[in-house]
Amino acid sequence: MWATTLEKKLKQPTCANPLPFYLCRLKSAPAHKGASDRNIYMYRTHTCNELRLNNAGQTVTLAGWVAASRDLGGLTFIDLRDRYGITQLVFDMDDNPDLCERARRLGREYVVQATGIVRERTSKNPNRDTGDIEIQVTDLVVLNPAKTPPFTIVDDTDGGDDLRMKYRYLDLRRPCVQKNILFRSRLSLETRNYLAAWGFAEIETPFLIKSTPEGARDFVVPSRMNRGQFYALPQSPQTFKQILMVAGYDRYFQIVRCFRDEDLRADRQPEFTQIDCEMAFVHQEDVLQTFEGLTRHLFQTMLGIDLGPFPRMTYDEAMRRFGSDKPDMRFGMEFCDLTQQVRGRGFPVFDQAESVLAICAPGCAAYSRKQLDELTEWVRRPQIGAKGLVYVRYDADGSVKSSVDKFYSPDDLKRWLQACHAAPGDLLLILAGETEKTSKQLSELRLEMGNRLGLRSPNVFKPLWVLDFPLLEWDEEEGRFFAMHHPFTSPKAADIPKMDSDEHAVLKSIRADAYDLVINGVEIGGGSIRIHDRELQSRNFRLLGFTREEAEAQFGFLLGAFEYGAPPHGGIAFGFDRLCAVMNGANSIRDFIAFPKNNQGRDVMIDAPDALKPQQLEELGIALTDEHS
Ligand code: AMO
Repeated sequence: MWATTLEKKLKQPTCANPLPFYLCRLKSAPAHKGASDRNIYMYRTHTCNELRLNNAGQTVTLAGWVAASRDLGGLTFIDLRDRYGITQLVFDMDDNPDLCERARRLGREYVVQATGIVRERTSKNPNRDTGDIEIQVTDLVVLNPAKTPPFTIVDDTDGGDDLRMKYRYLDLRRPCVQKNILFRSRLSLETRNYLAAWGFAEIETPFLIKSTPEGARDFVVPSRMNRGQFYALPQSPQTFKQILMVAGYDRYFQIVRCFRDEDLRADRQPEFTQIDCEMAFVHQEDVLQTFEGLTRHLFQTMLGIDLGPFPRMTYDEAMRRFGSDKPDMRFGMEFCDLTQQVRGRGFPVFDQAESVLAICAPGCAAYSRKQLDELTEWVRRPQIGAKGLVYVRYDADGSVKSSVDKFYSPDDLKRWLQACHAAPGDLLLILAGETEKTSKQLSELRLEMGNRLGLRSPNVFKPLWVLDFPLLEWDEEEGRFFAMHHPFTSPKAADIPKMDSDEHAVLKSIRADAYDLVINGVEIGGGSIRIHDRELQSRNFRLLGFTREEAEAQFGFLLGAFEYGAPPHGGIAFGFDRLCAVMNGANSIRDFIAFPKNNQGRDVMIDAPDALKPQQLEELGIALTDEHS
């Protein structure tokens, strides 16, 4: 039923025209008919990626940036670049020495307008869309000269990270960066088209909201009119979208900026974008089907890839098989639990360990001593934190060799190999210690081995739904439970009675109607069915350590709304920047954000954050200590 409805919806004309709007207008624009027509497009008749052999003989006007120039004496060639591509301009000394002289003086990144006649090139450039033609220029206008840029505006630039971020406007001119930014633009359009076709309404929610203690740290904004009081920027529109469900807008979405003051990584920015969605009168299955549909549509239309139905796995299974709640399913190397088998042979590391876990690296038995030592060093790095690494080589001739031969017989080792489904030529890598830590470490090692063995191709896409997350997670430092997803997530109906327990183990075992969408080991989205009953929500707040008063002060508006007819509802939010990156096989979301922050959370182009003037601080009622002033 879903498939047929989906097909029908997608026949809607919303995404019928694949050409960018601007390009369509340019294509149909008259070339040089008369002054009135030209007035519409004063600067250019075509883009720099539009002219082909069939335009030969036409008089055209292009405008763009000087990407490169070659002075061959009698002839000067200029590569003119715009957002769409590059077209070669040619200036002939014999035809027009003045013009040629002016062309020679053009510097890199000058903005120029050139009029001339399209002609077939004698030596064609098959690597360029416009490589069959060139423009024999008859008129040249320098629209604006430019300083020599601090790095080359090409894909393979000589500019370092910092320099490129400082001059982001130049970096954004590079074709590879433009490709990413324009991909993002088309992806958001496709998302809107799809969700609109499914009846989702795009509704904006406020950016100036109230700080809450849950989740990451908030970015806060002082209020001038309410001295001493602060707004917070939303970490997500979570409570607002739930309120919209209470208000009856049963299918909501928003492509929305979120703000989180947390430590930054390649896949985290302090401000990032979500495709945020919520639906009323739905079960978990409806949400999964809807957003699996969206994801498949985006991969199909943007990349021409059919992802097929998404496999599903519970959180417990993902942790057991891969030591991660976001396993990369592009390759196997599943965990093998050897804890019971390895005990009692006098090897203290294994005897005392809570868990002894192995992965089988296919075809790695021939690893040299040096490679194994290097791998051991790798797991010992502070970022991984393992104490050591035990290996078992299963040589091609069937013989076995390990780093713990002193304690275990070849038969012992063969039993391990068998348990891990190893074949001759494979290598077992074993870590031991406290279960949670060891799983995490081995999960990192699995990914590293996946990289080393080339098993994580950026062109292969393996989606996975991870279901049934725990409701609560214990925080050792704070000595209390936190919501694993967020405090509005519904426990599974069958587990609700466990909420009354005093036992940690019981509380930890409460499962939630919460799900994540993982693609290639990246958490692309997360969501849940929400609590829509005031009483249950209050019970959940109590479990999270909120007093009645605290819950009322923080979330009274939501609890209140639940008393006025809240429908059952649930939703999800996709990390839009992450989706862009994963779809392009990239690791860093910064490549898909026009103006990202660096790892210190700074925008180095505008030099933010910055100090405020004393007068501004005074107005806001903020006093800085000497140390900060
Ligand atoms: P969650 O916190 O899981 O859920 O966020 C949803 C998705 O947003 C992306 N994401 C980020 N991307 C870049 N930088 C960040 N700092 C960052 N933090 C999160 C991830 C993540 O899966 N309101 C809930 C959603 C819901 O329950 O409907 C929420 O925000 O891809």
